[in-house]
Amino acid sequence: MEGGSSDRVEKYPLQQIRGVSMLSFVVENWHRIEGFKAFPGDVLIATYPKAGTTWVQEIVDLIVNEGDKEKCQRAPIYVRIPFIEMFPPPPFKSGIDLLEKMSPPRVIKTHLPIQFINQSFWDNNCKVIYVARNAKDSVVSYYHFDRMNKYEPEPGPWNEYIHKFMQGEVPFGSWYDHVKGFWEEKNKRNVLYLFYEDLKENLRNEVIKIVKFMDRSLSEDIINRIVELTTFSNMKDNPMANYTTIPDSVFDYSKSTFMRKGQVGDWKNHFSAEEAALFDKHYEEKMADCNIPFRCDPTEH
Ligand code: PPS
Repeated sequence: MEGGSSDRVEKYPLQQIRGVSMLSFVVENWHRIEGFKAFPGDVLIATYPKAGTTWVQEIVDLIVNEGDKEKCQRAPIYVRIPFIEMFPPPPFKSGIDLLEKMSPPRVIKTHLPIQFINQSFWDNNCKVIYVARNAKDSVVSYYHFDRMNKYEPEPGPWNEYIHKFMQGEVPFGSWYDHVKGFWEEKNKRNVLYLFYEDLKENLRNEVIKIVKFMDRSLSEDIINRIVELTTFSNMKDNPMANYTTIPDSVFDYSKSTFMRKGQVGDWKNHFSAEEAALFDKHYEEKMADCNIPFRCDPTEH
């Protein structure tokens, strides 16, 4: 498979914060990120990259706005639900600049692992919605994202990228540590732990779970509308959710699209048999101390 392009202008090398690989702009702005405080009532959507963050952001915004399609077209998803640790190139505003201008309660996105979540979220008993996606589909989605996103480190060829992912040498570090960190804390804190594969299998069920977790009560009609508006095909066509508002100086659309495939099991089109065997062996070692019910195949129950 083809690797990253050589014409990439911007290269942002990985740096480390307390042993976790991070994008350089996250490290440079760490004092602001670390100092960002939650208000009571703020809702945090936390994920390892490519787990279905945007999907759940859109669902949550529709829940907050009671299924009002027009209200949820007011701005791109990254403005409606800012990303704490995002410091993009001008003219885009940083996540924190956007959040500081929003009146609470706010809905906030983060990819930070649990040990970096500001204590104010826990002290204020903020609701945290965590979304996890199986490792194999996550690495495939991340690889294509890194190919298109000029502000991510060059992914290199697939057969090398897969090893970087396994070693946590990608932005936001180890997938294994991330999903385990929130899993271990979910019953001790106000965390709803969701799976991408469950959203794919029964979107309505998961929307209802989120509605209940947010202490909302919505009519059947509104729930049906939210489900309809957040199918892959509808979100792919929604410019306020599909990231097509990002210019091609940042996202190279000749490489991939943000709303790429939206499937469970696409990893089978990328992994060789040897890669799958190696990945599975490593996975077993890394995940031996927990029992998170990930599914890598749409037929698995
Ligand atoms: S990011 O950059 O980390 O915020 O990306 P994130 O939104 O977490 O993940 C992007 C992947 O989620 C898929 N997606 C969806 N799948 C199914 N249904 C809906 N509605 C949906 N919305 C987004 C998106 O296509 C990316 O997955 P891949 O496998 O690359 O297609």
